[in-house]
Amino acid sequence: MDSYDMSLAAAPDREPARQQYFMKRLREVVVKKSREYGRPLTACIKTFGCQMNAKDSEKLLGILLRAGFTASEDEASDFVLYNTCTVRDNANQRVYGRLGYLNRLKQKNPEMTIALCGCMMQEPSVVEKIKRSYRFVDLIFGTHNIFRLAELLFLCYEKKGMVVDIWDGTDQIVENLPASRKYPFKSGVNIMYGCNNFCSYCIVPYVRGRERSREPEDILAEIRALAEDGVVEVMLLGQNVNSYGKTLDVPMTFAELLRQVAEIQGLERIRFMTSHPKDLSDELIEVMGDCPKICRHLHLPLQSGSSRILKKMNRVYDKEQYLKLAAKIQKEIPDLSLTTDIIVGFPGETEEDFEETLDVVRRVRFDSAFTFIYSKRTGTPAAAMEDQVPDEVVKPRFDRLLKEVQQISSQVCGKDVGKTMTALVEGMDTHDPSLVTGRLSNNIMVHFPGDASDIGKLIPVMLTESKGFYYMGKKLP
Ligand code: SAH
Ligand code: SF4
Ligand code: F3S
Repeated sequence: MDSYDMSLAAAPDREPARQQYFMKRLREVVVKKSREYGRPLTACIKTFGCQMNAKDSEKLLGILLRAGFTASEDEASDFVLYNTCTVRDNANQRVYGRLGYLNRLKQKNPEMTIALCGCMMQEPSVVEKIKRSYRFVDLIFGTHNIFRLAELLFLCYEKKGMVVDIWDGTDQIVENLPASRKYPFKSGVNIMYGCNNFCSYCIVPYVRGRERSREPEDILAEIRALAEDGVVEVMLLGQNVNSYGKTLDVPMTFAELLRQVAEIQGLERIRFMTSHPKDLSDELIEVMGDCPKICRHLHLPLQSGSSRILKKMNRVYDKEQYLKLAAKIQKEIPDLSLTTDIIVGFPGETEEDFEETLDVVRRVRFDSAFTFIYSKRTGTPAAAMEDQVPDEVVKPRFDRLLKEVQQISSQVCGKDVGKTMTALVEGMDTHDPSLVTGRLSNNIMVHFPGDASDIGKLIPVMLTESKGFYYMGKKLP
């Protein structure tokens, strides 16, 4: 038995005890190495993709700090981890591009350890490609086993050669592992994992697995602890938060969860991402109306305005239903900011279909919209559909949509000039050191004179000028 096998034999079977054990063992390795090098061991995590991944990275960093690493933003670190995204092909291309750069860094420092995790690693073809063409990568794991980082990295240090650990899926939710928050005053909180919707273009259900809700007690306990630790704003995270709780032993609706979260002392603001239109209940609209702690922002992805395309997308609502829902929400909560995601160039999209999308954009008047060019994802039903739309047709449509969206959003965003609203200050302005940057309840940013002591505070700000997508403002005297 070598030392790794002995460590393995002594490890507890149950989680999180097993990972706590491996964090200690990894720490011994880290301490030994930093004595050898005569300096602390650094670790750098780069995150691609959505808030889920950002949250996962905070958990991964929490484990690394517990194991004795020093956090660094610099990729010339002793341990570099890329937490990847594969929702569109350009996310993948960015990772491959940066791997070339990491290879050059590793040639200068052969002791460097390179790891890849996240959604891209759940695709077998990606892992094959890395094994074949990126031999300098030391460790690969997926989305279902991030909680095992300490164990996997310990294995990596003890045994030579690439370590690969990808799980097809899991029903396990491991609680009570460390996390290192990026912001002291706000935090994402997972309320569910995975997705069951299988929109025909989307790879997320394949790489994130089936939908699993966390127990409400675990969510509430985490948020209470965050609030005690100074967090004033939480973002509840799930691919489709509106179906929260349906699969729990004691089912609970998302609206009910929101009510309970809103009761937590010290917590001032609640956000959530993302809402699927098909599951948005009247109860949710009611709770949002009743409860001032719930932010005046709803992200409600449209994807397409054409009922024909929505059907092919498997979105389970049509144009009329979406318009009705948006109108109802805007009527019930007039100060709410409504934002969306739109895909251009889904297979079979005609000029008429695209016009339907523009029509919805003009009628709803979104505060802002993320627009995407359809990206073919291997293994999804849409990838096998005939009549994929050629680039030269998609690009002009994309530009037309973007122009429309931007024009409307600058008009909509300007409407609150002269009003006073509360901003949560997130940091110093990156261009002007005399200004700070804050986020309004409706998710729009405001820049105003202030200093570092304002960061993390909720401050009433008079909105003096609209700059299209954000405001300039001043503190009240
Ligand atoms: N669960 C969320 C979305 C997660 S992915 C929801 O259903 O709303 C974020 C956005 O990426 C999606 O809303 C969609 O607009 C876009 N997207 C997903 N797959 C895509 C693809 N194959 N090509 C282009 N955009 C895509
Ligand atoms: Fe993808 Fe649809 Fe699930 Fe959103 S709801 S993650 S778009 S499959
Ligand atoms: Fe990307 Fe995975 Fe999020 S594919 S968008 S990081 S769930």
